[in-house]
Amino acid sequence: MQKVQFNFHTEMFRQTEQLAVARVRLQQTMPDRRLKILSFGSSIGEEIATLRFMFPDHDVYGCEIDDRLLDICRRSVGALATIFKSSVENIAAHGPFDLIVASAVLCLNPTPLNAVELFPVSRFDELVAMLDESLVPGGIFVITNAAYRFTESPVGKNYDTVRADIVSTAGHVDVFTRAATPYLTQITSTGSVVYQRHGDFVPRDDEDLADSVFEKRLPNAKPAIRELRLRPPPQGLTVITHHKRLNIDWAKRRVPDRCVVIEFDYQFCRLDRTGEFGYVQTISWTSLVGEGVHRRLPTWHLVP
Ligand SMILES: C[S@@+](CC[C@H](N)C(=O)[O-])C[C@H]1O[C@@H](n2cnc3c(N)ncnc32)[C@H](O)[C@@H]1O
Repeated sequence: MQKVQFNFHTEMFRQTEQLAVARVRLQQTMPDRRLKILSFGSSIGEEIATLRFMFPDHDVYGCEIDDRLLDICRRSVGALATIFKSSVENIAAHGPFDLIVASAVLCLNPTPLNAVELFPVSRFDELVAMLDESLVPGGIFVITNAAYRFTESPVGKNYDTVRADIVSTAGHVDVFTRAATPYLTQITSTGSVVYQRHGDFVPRDDEDLADSVFEKRLPNAKPAIRELRLRPPPQGLTVITHHKRLNIDWAKRRVPDRCVVIEFDYQFCRLDRTGEFGYVQTISWTSLVGEGVHRRLPTWHLVP
């Protein structure tokens, strides 16, 4: 198998939102199952440690293509998971899995000039089809920071998107259309990503910027979008302060016309019932499919 992403940057709790959504959805659909979970491209092992913590009663597997990183992974988090060298055969032999996480692996970031030659869409399709072979029907595929849209790939058509209030981004890397033209180009990823749109590609809807959790449809089931509400604001809030932040406030230079402006609306509140403090965040962004803005559902965040 070829290496895709050369950068091995990783962090603990990097995909907490997507993983929490996967956990809730799998609790609904496979409540009594001891899950098998694969970190595809586990780098030095931070994702494995995160999965181990978030899914304490389940079995975690990690595969990595780079031998040096594989060694570090085995040394540091080897007791937390079954770790193996990434190959088509090894993935098939350790599967099938109920949850596969491909985070920041199916891309090249920073994007080289010949990115679509080094990682063409055909290669992306092959890799997601290979992972699909090792995912059970009803299983969840988390795919973030990918160079192409999973929903557009042949195998992606057999998946239902799982959407949730807490997942508001699919990542920050450059995204290409299947015709190898740029679709979203990262202007800056400090703070919140600033994306510039290119060409005339129109995604299926505005949640394209966030879609990153997918459920493998059961045979004969009808396509559907699954909507989950994980963090609704509680009743009885007293607003203390209110302000808005734009993603473009983090840009180091003047942003081009076709950039996606994301607004973060914060209402810092006191919860009347308990006296605790927190904030309601409402995110909206320039619509990708029409005029105006796309407004997401508000979420509640306790402040310790
Ligand atoms: C940016 S890191 C992401 C690490 C982790 N998934 C995360 O999100 O924190 C990308 C990792 O994918 C690995 N990788 C690249 N191509 C791979 C492949 N074909 N199979 C398995 N791992 C691969 C790289 O060696 C690197 O360690």
